[in-house]
Amino acid sequence: MFIKKILLTGFAAAAMVTARAQITPMIFTIAADKIKAHIEPNMYGIFFEDINMAADGGVYAELVKNRSFEFNSPLAAWTERLKGGGKGSIEVVDRTAERPENAHIIKVNVNATTGYFGLSNEGFRGMGIKKDERYSFSVNARKPGTGPITMLIELHNAKGAVIGTGRLTPTATQWKKYAVKFTATATEDKASLYVWLKGTGAIDLDMISLFPEHTWKNRPAGLRADLVQKLADMKPGFLRFPGGCIVEGRDLANRYQWKKSIGDIDKRETIINRWNMEFKHRPTPDYYQTFGLGFMEYFMTAEDIGASPLPILNCGMACQFNTGQLVPVDQLDPYVQDALDLIEFANGGPDTKWGKLRTDLGHPKPFNLKMMGVGNEQWGEQYIERWKIFTKAIKDKYPYIKIISSVGPFAAGEEFTRLDKFFRAQHADILDEHYYQSPKWFFDNAKRYDNYDRNGPKIFAGEYAAQSVGGGSPENKNNWDCALSEAAFMTGLERNADVVHMASYAPLFAHVDAWQWRPDLIWFDNLRSYGSPSYYVQQLFSLNKGTDVVPLLQKGEMVSGKDGYYATASIDKGTNELIIKFVNSGATAQPVKFNIEGGKSYGKTATVITLRSADKAAENSLAAPTAISPVKSLINVDGKAVNVTVEPLTFKVIRLKAVGM
Ligand code: AHR
Repeated sequence: MFIKKILLTGFAAAAMVTARAQITPMIFTIAADKIKAHIEPNMYGIFFEDINMAADGGVYAELVKNRSFEFNSPLAAWTERLKGGGKGSIEVVDRTAERPENAHIIKVNVNATTGYFGLSNEGFRGMGIKKDERYSFSVNARKPGTGPITMLIELHNAKGAVIGTGRLTPTATQWKKYAVKFTATATEDKASLYVWLKGTGAIDLDMISLFPEHTWKNRPAGLRADLVQKLADMKPGFLRFPGGCIVEGRDLANRYQWKKSIGDIDKRETIINRWNMEFKHRPTPDYYQTFGLGFMEYFMTAEDIGASPLPILNCGMACQFNTGQLVPVDQLDPYVQDALDLIEFANGGPDTKWGKLRTDLGHPKPFNLKMMGVGNEQWGEQYIERWKIFTKAIKDKYPYIKIISSVGPFAAGEEFTRLDKFFRAQHADILDEHYYQSPKWFFDNAKRYDNYDRNGPKIFAGEYAAQSVGGGSPENKNNWDCALSEAAFMTGLERNADVVHMASYAPLFAHVDAWQWRPDLIWFDNLRSYGSPSYYVQQLFSLNKGTDVVPLLQKGEMVSGKDGYYATASIDKGTNELIIKFVNSGATAQPVKFNIEGGKSYGKTATVITLRSADKAAENSLAAPTAISPVKSLINVDGKAVNVTVEPLTFKVIRLKAVGM
């Protein structure tokens, strides 16, 4: 449970009363019976992109890096090893003609009647291994010659001590998958895997793999349970995947192709991750995509955590910050077909080609896909041209699918205005706005949507995060100032829930030793993870959204920045509660009084959830993962008035239960 509970009694309560007595409370009025806007049940979601080693080396629990020898240097991450007098050699064999999507295997020539010859794998900045957990090693092997070759599998800790052992004897002359499970005897975050061979002769190997048995829902070769749990704990309304710029690719060859991300794991073609060398200040040359986390896994994870799936598809344009390669419009058909086929894959019955494939992959139940993004951060006439073709084809066949359309990478400016105008004229469904801006921008823009056309396209705040230094700076921090500014801004999203239908922070995950971009929502190493202060802001909005916005005013005005205060109120028709969200971005504590109008009576106590730090620069970390995290308390409700002191630099959620209705 993420919430620390405190019952404010005795000294703490007295201290607050004293504070209240000293400063006149600021009065706010809530018209709890006047519904202003409906809040979409899936309003607060998550945005997943394989950046910062979020997938390979992150949530995808595979521990072996370059398991199928498909990196540009086929033996990257592998080292030849000898022990006890064993000898041998390793050849990389190219079988492109036979298996273009998994072109390399290794042939290991073993000369080790005494001792061993073998190879070790370094993992993703090491391997995270837990004492007493079971691990599942597997390998595809073929042993054309006679004479036994036995395999000894060892896990080594960083000092070289053995902390896990398994044995196999591959005998088949044709490719066959061999597997063994074993228990680790120690915990280590920088372990490595050794594959020792004994005997004489040659053996072919591919797909050398190691997974923990304990994964999310204990699916074999699945996802890291602690990381998916952090997502589930947010109760996200939707899961946007697989990106981000990764959808577009640096060039078209490098784009995300969903059809190559499903089915047999050894047939999913590994490609370079586009974030590999994107940032000169954070080069990550060992960053590839194996697609072990592919579209089937994305859909299933969304289903597991109760989120609507939101795939974003390439619309025939590579990243416009990179090559900007374009597919000529008369050659766009395969791209459009990919979009149509994806809808059939997600929703089609077993009598359809792609619905049957989903069924064959073990999921007869449709995924209930309702929306799809056409392009990521696109702009210009080229986007408009391609968007029209995609939208017509999708709407002709699947009129119920809502199209998410990009208004480019920036929150304002010429391209934003051009696309915004165009899409409004087209009566587009949902516009995807992105903003990576300073905390000041977020505080100043809590009113951004107050004057948007209530009858125009709906807004998806598809990627946003406050940057403490500046967009793309490696010096950006996930600090409290950023998170508080996001909370202030999000009161504006919620107040405008009739226009803003969806919102997601970005990026989602980052490996502490292998990130390219920050800030990020959730940080992890090979064993542990923690939510940034922004994570808790997102979580509090998601868990406390309510069903309908009601007016919360100060002297008839909305509370969106005056004197550093930001607030919104909603009711939850399901639980019969009133929910108040309040941000005090100032440096002094402020007693506030909420007068509640409307017919309902409320219980004698209200629950208050407080997220705060006295230090704007404070951050969470692996060592102090919940330094800034929600604290729960109870306060008294005085008839139809709630009095509470909001500490400086604080975000509070107050929940009141209606009684006797
Ligand atoms: O979130 C990181 C990147 O920022 C996304 O890939 C892209 O859409 C945006 O520019």
